[in-house]
Amino acid sequence: MIGGKIAFASGMLLALAGGWLAFPRILYQTRQQPVNFSHKVHAEKAGAKCEDCHSFRDDGTYAGIPTLDKCSGCHTAAMGTTAEEKNFIDQYVTPNREPQWLSYAQQPENVYFSHIAHVKLGHVKCEQCHGNEGGTGALRPYQQDPISGYSRDIWGRPVAPVGLRNEGGMKMDDCVNCHRRQGLEYSCLGCHK
Ligand code: HEC
Ligand code: HEC
Ligand code: HEC
Ligand code: HEC
Ligand code: HEC
Repeated sequence: MIGGKIAFASGMLLALAGGWLAFPRILYQTRQQPVNFSHKVHAEKAGAKCEDCHSFRDDGTYAGIPTLDKCSGCHTAAMGTTAEEKNFIDQYVTPNREPQWLSYAQQPENVYFSHIAHVKLGHVKCEQCHGNEGGTGALRPYQQDPISGYSRDIWGRPVAPVGLRNEGGMKMDDCVNCHRRQGLEYSCLGCHK
């Protein structure tokens, strides 16, 4: 009898663990980025600095993901021989078509966030919020919650607490935790509109 109970309990645990690991994969829809962009190649082969592509506008707002005109100067003609570069030129540079990048960190409409306050006044490093995104050699898949439309990076609490958490911290808990550590407290309306 006891053996049966143990078998049942461990079977149950296995099933739960399996579901816990598989669940996020079913829950999130995977979307491809338009171009296979490599931050690493641009740092190493073009010596590009973050600010060359991600800059503040004169009014202090953040330009975010660069538009095609930041790329065309170097890529009017192919600089190398990779298929990725050729595809990018044929599909976007030559026809002058903007790639529709998917932003992993994009917040819901009701969240107020300012880069200049964090980067310039708070001296927070890009990596503290975005993880190593700016040093990657290939783009990871963009995972989207099919119901809310939010990116997996920002939505709610991590679904699977063990091991499967995306790097970086873009959820409300991450914002609030860092503010607490720094002795900054904001009311709900400090972050929400
Ligand atoms: C040659 C231009 C270029 C340079 C230089 C560059 N980036 Fe990017 N960055 C991009 C493009 C294009 C994207 C959109 C594709 C993607 O998500 O990687 C991007 C996306 C990002 C994102 C993802 C934002 C999001 O939420 O989707 C982060 C973070 C980022 N860059 C940080 C950096 C950092 C840090 C550096 C310097 C170490 C840097 N980048 C240098 C072009 C550039
Ligand atoms: C300062 C010049 C420069 C700028 C600006 C630039 N690139 Fe590049 N890009 C390069 C160089 C150099 C390579 C490497 C070519 C080679 O040797 O294969 C490269 C490679 C690529 C590749 C091939 C990827 C790979 O893995 O090798 C893609 C795609 C690409 N760039 C897209 C972009 C996009 C999108 C932008 C604008 C956000 C951009 N580039 C801006 C210089 C630049
Ligand atoms: C305190 C956290 C934090 C820091 C530090 C930070 N970011 Fe962000 N970043 C965010 C958030 C949150 C968003 C989403 C903003 C939104 O939804 O309007 C974002 C969005 C972006 C985007 C995408 C914007 C778009 O067009 O959708 C890029 C690119 C980016 N950040 C690059 C950087 C770079 C480069 C640095 C360092 C110079 C940096 N970030 C520092 C939190 C941060
Ligand atoms: C790694 C630490 C850190 C993280 C993560 C962080 N913040 Fe902050 N935040 C700061 C610091 C430091 C300041 C104070 C900047 C200054 O000196 O004015 C600040 C200031 C602010 C302010 C007030 C300044 C302004 O923009 O008017 C708001 C609002 C804010 N953060 C929202 C957010 C949101 C939303 C997130 C999550 C998406 C976030 N923060 C994540 C460190 C952080
Ligand atoms: C430091 C910034 C910050 C503060 C303070 C803050 N929030 Fe948030 N909140 C966020 C961010 C960023 C998100 C989006 C990411 C997420 O869902 O985790 C969010 C998401 C939410 C959502 C889900 C919204 C949606 O569209 O799914 C609710 C509800 C919410 N907050 C309520 C509150 C309430 C109530 C308070 C005050 C007790 C509060 N928040 C304080 C940053 C903040």
